Amino acid sequence: MKGLILSGGTGSRLYPLTYSNAKQLIPVANKPILFRVIESIRDAGITEIGIVVGSTGKKIKEAVGRGGQWGVNITYIQQDQPLGLAHAVKVSREFLGDDRFVMFLGDNVIEGGISSLITEFAHNDWHSQIVLTRIDNPQQYGVAELGDDGRIIRLIEKPKNPPSDLALVGIYMFDKHIFEAVDGIRPSARGELEITDAIQWLVDHDYTVHPFINRGWWIDTGKQEDMLEANDLVLEEIDYTVEGYVDRDSKVGRRVCVQRGAEVINSIVRGPSIIGENARIINSYIGPFTSIGHDVLIENSEIEHSMVLEESNIRNIGARIQDSLIGRKVVIERSPIKPKALKLTVADHSQVGIL
Ligand code: DAU
Repeated sequence: MKGLILSGGTGSRLYPLTYSNAKQLIPVANKPILFRVIESIRDAGITEIGIVVGSTGKKIKEAVGRGGQWGVNITYIQQDQPLGLAHAVKVSREFLGDDRFVMFLGDNVIEGGISSLITEFAHNDWHSQIVLTRIDNPQQYGVAELGDDGRIIRLIEKPKNPPSDLALVGIYMFDKHIFEAVDGIRPSARGELEITDAIQWLVDHDYTVHPFINRGWWIDTGKQEDMLEANDLVLEEIDYTVEGYVDRDSKVGRRVCVQRGAEVINSIVRGPSIIGENARIINSYIGPFTSIGHDVLIENSEIEHSMVLEESNIRNIGARIQDSLIGRKVVIERSPIKPKALKLTVADHSQVGIL
C-alpha cells in the first residue's frame, strides 16, 4: 500500500499564523502536525508516501525533505490550485498507479494511529474504507447516513441539516476504482471536486465502501480553538522525559517533558506540558496544557493552557497569559518607556484580548 498526504490549501482560517507558514507545519506539542501524520502512516508499515502540496510547497519540502529521518520515501505532487480533495487524488494518479492507498489530510490528528485500520483494509476486499466519528457540529464536515444494517446510504459535504452526527474523518482508504469516481463527479457548489461526492459515486456504483466508526478522539486543526484542543489531547499522549536542566529551586510536575538543552530556573511547571529544545524558563509559572516551543524565553511571567511557537520571548508580564496561541519570533514584554500605554505591533487577522 501507499500513503497520500494532502498538504495543499491556504490555511486562511488560521491567519495570521499561516501567513508565514503552512498550516500543516504548525507544531502540536512541539511537533508539526504533518510529522505526526507521516509517523502514523510509517507506523502502519507504509514507506512510499506522496505529499500533495500547493502554494506552501517550498516550506513543506524544506521541513520534510525526502523522508530519510522517518525511514520513508517521499514524493511531492504539485497541485497548482486547491480545487478539492478529489482533485488532489486526480493529480496523484501517476504516483499511486494501481496500488491501494491511504489518504490522510495533513491537518488531521487522531488518537492512537491508523495501524489497525490499515491492517483491516489490507485483509479485506473492500474497495474503500472511510472513518466516521460522532461529533456535535456535523454541519462543518462531510456527514454519513448509515442504514439499520450499518451500510452507507449517503454522504453529504457540510450539510445545513445533517442527517446524522457521523462526521467523515480525514483518513480514507481506496483502491484504483477511486480514479473512475473522481472522473465521474462534477465540482460542488463551493467549486471543489469533493472526495465525499467521489465516495458517494463508489456507493452508487455498487463498490464496497466500509464505514469504520472511530471511538477515540479526532481533531481537524483548521481553526485556532481546534489547534489548542489538539495540543491538549496530544500533550496527554507524549512521553514525559526530562532531557534538559531543572534547577533545585524549580518544581516540575510528573507529566512534563523538558526537551534537550532547555533550562528551567526558579520556576514552576505543571503538566501535561512540554518545554522545547533550548527554551529558557526563568522565575516563571507554566501551567497545565502548555507547549513552549524551541528557543523560547519565558521570564518573570505566567502562562497556562497556551502554545508558544519557536523563538518567541515573553518577559515581565504582570497578568497571566491563558488560552493563547502565540506565533514564532513574537516579543511580548512590559515596556519601561513612557507613556504608560499598550504598545502593539500586531499582524493582520490577529486577535488580542486585553484585561
Ligand atoms: O477534516 C475532515 C474534513 O475534511 C471532512 O469531514 C470533509 O468531508 C472534507 O471535505 C474535509 O473538509 P475541510 O473543509 O476541512 O477540508 P480542507 O479544505 O480544510 O482541506 C483538508 C486538507 O487537504 C488540508 O490539509 C489542505 C488539503 N487540501 C485541500 C484542498 C481543498 C489539498 O491538499 N488540496 C485541496 O485542493
